[in-house]
Amino acid sequence: MNAKNHQQVLDYLEQARQVAKRAYCPYSKFSVGCVLVDAQGRVFEGCNVENASYSVTLCAERTAGSGAIAQGSRHWEAIYIVSPTRVSPCGACRQFLFELAPELKIYLGDLQSKEFIGPVAIGDLLPMAMNLQQTTLPQP
Ligand code: THU
Repeated sequence: MNAKNHQQVLDYLEQARQVAKRAYCPYSKFSVGCVLVDAQGRVFEGCNVENASYSVTLCAERTAGSGAIAQGSRHWEAIYIVSPTRVSPCGACRQFLFELAPELKIYLGDLQSKEFIGPVAIGDLLPMAMNLQQTTLPQP
């Protein structure tokens, strides 16, 4: 990775850190922020949104992805995710992201340092992913 790209990664992770400050996570206190970047360079922010009914909780990745879809963005290139422990996307989010971005690159950072993990390919995090073709049955 050249110096310019490295700086770009640090900048997106810093942006994600600002988003993480807006996470609504009174139950876990585990704030996650992310920045999803599409092929046109458009940026969509997301944070986790928890709920008293725990299973209703939305992860940061899915809030960012849903916002992108609503804005007409479907070709996603990379996602920059920050959390207290550089956590990687949960299984549900892997499946969600793979649906629209099977080539997505993932970068993981934390809330304090400039250390990061990535790029990691979504396909490496979700081998043999279920996809649209597999759920389309032949016409009778
Ligand atoms: N969480 C995310 O937002 N993204 C992840 O990749 C992992 C987990 C959230 C869900 C919940 O609000 C909190 O982190 C603890 O699991």
